[in-house]
Amino acid sequence: MKQNRPSATAQRVAMQRAAHQLLDNPKIFDDPVALRIIGKESASALQADAHQFETTPLSSYLRAFVAARSRFAEDELSLGVRRGVRQYVILGAGLDTFAYRNPFPEGLLHVFEVDHPATQTWKRARLDEIGIALPADLTFAPVDFETQTLEEGLRAAGYDPGKSTFFSWLGVTEYLTTEAVMATLRFIASAPAGSGVVFDYMISPSLLNSVQRSRLDALAQRVARAEEPWQAFFDPELLTTDLRVMGFRFVEVKGPEEINARYFKNRKDELRVGSLSHLMNARV
Ligand SMILES: C[S@@+](CC[C@H](N)C(=O)[O-])C[C@H]1O[C@@H](n2cnc3c(N)ncnc32)[C@H](O)[C@@H]1O
Repeated sequence: MKQNRPSATAQRVAMQRAAHQLLDNPKIFDDPVALRIIGKESASALQADAHQFETTPLSSYLRAFVAARSRFAEDELSLGVRRGVRQYVILGAGLDTFAYRNPFPEGLLHVFEVDHPATQTWKRARLDEIGIALPADLTFAPVDFETQTLEEGLRAAGYDPGKSTFFSWLGVTEYLTTEAVMATLRFIASAPAGSGVVFDYMISPSLLNSVQRSRLDALAQRVARAEEPWQAFFDPELLTTDLRVMGFRFVEVKGPEEINARYFKNRKDELRVGSLSHLMNARV
């Protein structure tokens, strides 16, 4: 992303989560803050016509995946908290709203929002504008994954490396270099037993058929126009091996079929994720 500019794609995916609250019934990801966080103007526009941002036939796939990945991460977080997770690090948080609707008793789970400094400054101004107070259980950690290590940024923010920690990394890895993604995953692998991570990633184009490839090209062109080009692509099998070598003891690949079976079964509206939707769930 551009050095001194907040991420435009952060606003876009937040719009998808807000649209999910208005358009989809039943919702698979219930976020009472989703509409407010997109800003007053965007919220009014969306409420006036929630379909107006459906610009391509792929829009519902994207909206479904943006909702599903947040739901999956927060489902895994809840399981983690039962196992003793006491810190939640949201990597590339964008306009994620978990910290402002944290369901756990105060003091149980400390949230660290890690993001590019330009996006974080913009988000803090947005929170101020819409009147959302900063919870005591939240700390911001500005980090540029390309030029700083996550460890430095988290330590400066008061992260405790001795505590079991859950990390989510949603809609971010594709914007980074492979080296930056791997360095961050290695850091997560060094967290105490019981820690874990959920992230999504883009599949290597060489593994796709021609229909999937043209979808990927269409999406890639859109983010490149926002000057946030995709850089990292992965093969699920190789990535699984890499994660095991790093020290993750449990590694689970969640492809589109599994995501649809888990969250989008028996719907009348046929909402579902598309074939480019891939999640990884790994535990130390
Ligand atoms: C598509 S948004 C996803 C935001 C959020 N995770 C969500 O799902 O709503 C991409 C996020 O990655 C962050 N990002 C991109 N490049 C980054 C970098 N080099 N260092 C830190 N954050 C970065 C952006 O600031 C933005 O918040």
